[in-house]
Amino acid sequence: MTPPAAVVLVFLDPTFPQGRLVDASEPALMATDQGATRGDGIFESMLSTAGSVRKIEAHLDRLESSATALELTVPGQDAWRQAIATALAAYRSSHPADAGAEDQQVVKLIATRGPDGASSPTAWVQVSAVPAKGRHQRESGVDVVLLDRGYPSDVAERAPWLLMGAKTLSYAVNMAAIRHAHHLGADDVIFVSSDGMVLEGPTASVLLAHHETADDGTLVKRLITPQLDSGILPGTSQGALFTAVRAEGWELGYGPLVPQDLLDADAVWLISSIRGLTPVNRIDGQEIGTPALRGQLTSELTSIYSGIQ
Ligand SMILES: Cc1ncc(COP(=O)(O)O)c(C=O)c1O
Repeated sequence: MTPPAAVVLVFLDPTFPQGRLVDASEPALMATDQGATRGDGIFESMLSTAGSVRKIEAHLDRLESSATALELTVPGQDAWRQAIATALAAYRSSHPADAGAEDQQVVKLIATRGPDGASSPTAWVQVSAVPAKGRHQRESGVDVVLLDRGYPSDVAERAPWLLMGAKTLSYAVNMAAIRHAHHLGADDVIFVSSDGMVLEGPTASVLLAHHETADDGTLVKRLITPQLDSGILPGTSQGALFTAVRAEGWELGYGPLVPQDLLDADAVWLISSIRGLTPVNRIDGQEIGTPALRGQLTSELTSIYSGIQ
């Protein structure tokens, strides 16, 4: 019996309203596609649980903002939703979830400028398994190094052609930063701007928390993320978590943050749709807070985050 395909691909195609399912083991993209030759395109990575994509509106909205930044005309949200449904149905029918196992998949949306000279983009949905590494990192935490991104924190406004804050396919630099962290014995990276501001990870937003008792004895819990106009990607997970924790009485803050703020925090996390809330154990070798408080804050936020649809 042939094993089920590890990846399911569904292309958005006006002649196939539900999307065009293709065999992922066969060539499907023109070699001249500018997504392949120039990294000229955009994407989203989303998590599906039991057939339903979490935070789908936020992801589709961010895909549209990225498309606007690149002056790329992409299919409308209904076409994406149809193709996502087709791809998830195909993947889940060929990979029935084991009893008790999490029925979760990674759903990627990709849109490129199309082959040279094309008048319309190439767009497809890819469904695949969730990498096991993310769960391990969520449970054990990660060690992080601070790396210089090389741009000042006001670059997004001064140089819009750098497409800061858009989720473009040009992730080679982000992947190189993670490899550099591995060479240094760390798991991941937090980028710092050339003027010393904390930004984001190569594939995640940064959060920090303070847990204090006020003069009147009340417990104050504060969750802070770098300011969103510093050339970072607005994280859908950070945004949804902020909305949810506000309802639970947490105070919220949006930078500006410098590296010392991370080192002084009670807990620091990297957060993204696929990996979820991942505690940072050490930054440049220095432990963040205490394992007990880090663990307590992580459990509290994880339980709030897991309620987000
Ligand atoms: C650079 C960057 N920042 C932040 C994030 C987190 O975004 P989200 O929470 O929407 O997954 C990602 C996700 O891939 C990312 O690549």
